[in-house]
Amino acid sequence: MTSIKHYLQFKDFTREEYDYVFARARWIKDKFKRYEPYHPLFDRTLVMIFEKASTRTRLSFEAGMHQLGGSAIYLNTRDSQLGRGEPVEDAGQVISRMSDIVMIRTFEQDIVERFAANSRVPVINGLTNEYHPCQILADIFTFIEHRGSIQGKTVAWIGDSNNMCNTWLQAAEVLDFNVHVSTPPGYEVEPERAGLYGTDHFEQFADPMDACRGADLVTTDVWTSMGFEAENEERMKAFADWCVDADMMAVAHKDAVFMHCLPAHRGEEVTAEVIDGPQSVVWDEAENRLHAQKALMEYLMLGRIEN
Ligand code: CP
Ligand code: NVA
Repeated sequence: MTSIKHYLQFKDFTREEYDYVFARARWIKDKFKRYEPYHPLFDRTLVMIFEKASTRTRLSFEAGMHQLGGSAIYLNTRDSQLGRGEPVEDAGQVISRMSDIVMIRTFEQDIVERFAANSRVPVINGLTNEYHPCQILADIFTFIEHRGSIQGKTVAWIGDSNNMCNTWLQAAEVLDFNVHVSTPPGYEVEPERAGLYGTDHFEQFADPMDACRGADLVTTDVWTSMGFEAENEERMKAFADWCVDADMMAVAHKDAVFMHCLPAHRGEEVTAEVIDGPQSVVWDEAENRLHAQKALMEYLMLGRIEN
């Protein structure tokens, strides 16, 4: 089963593979916008396993699979045996014998890694406590659409050193750009937790204004991620100064864009002025989950194809 290609962390793909997937996403998006049917995954089945809530990830995978000619099945822990202690290794064996590709949103990264090790079909990480590679795939595709190549550019990450932050850091290694991270004290990046072992692609800043200075992309995320709700009260106090506002955007590059994976909390991690303002590309970013993941599924299932 070692020859099957999975997408569990951003670093699972090379830069050349990303160049290919971004080009395919562009082609698939253009075709979709022209209302031209494209069914390369006719009769294929995607199984989506959700152990956490979702709007965008479920919609984009389910709609995307349908648009590519296949169908999608939704499983959650409440209505399946997954929530009743069935070993993840057994689930990987069974689910992958009845489907062609699997997407999992769960808690520890170890769960998707163990599922994939027992799967006969490609497995995609739809978010874990540690990583959210599909979101960063769409984010970088969005940056390329708006500003061109991300190579050599600077991304300012303001807030929690969470799954999104970890994935930005991995992406910077693969695609050769820089990440300026600013978190409250006690929430700093731990490079090894981010899957990094020796990197010169990121720098930590105590002051979020310093992290934003000259940045080409400013981005943030919720202060309390799913699974960390018990820490909400202390996080609200700790993160109060890590709200992306107009002052932060003003010290960024004049052409800087603002991104947020959504859902957002206006007045917490970002002001309404910024997320609803002219530099924000959050709606394109959300839409691009669809196009980027269609290219991802096509690549994982069919390999490189020419059109
Ligand atoms: N950004 C994102 O993954 O959104 P959902 O939690 O709605 O899927
Ligand atoms: N960091 C957030 C992302 C949600 C899409 C979370 O894990 O809840």
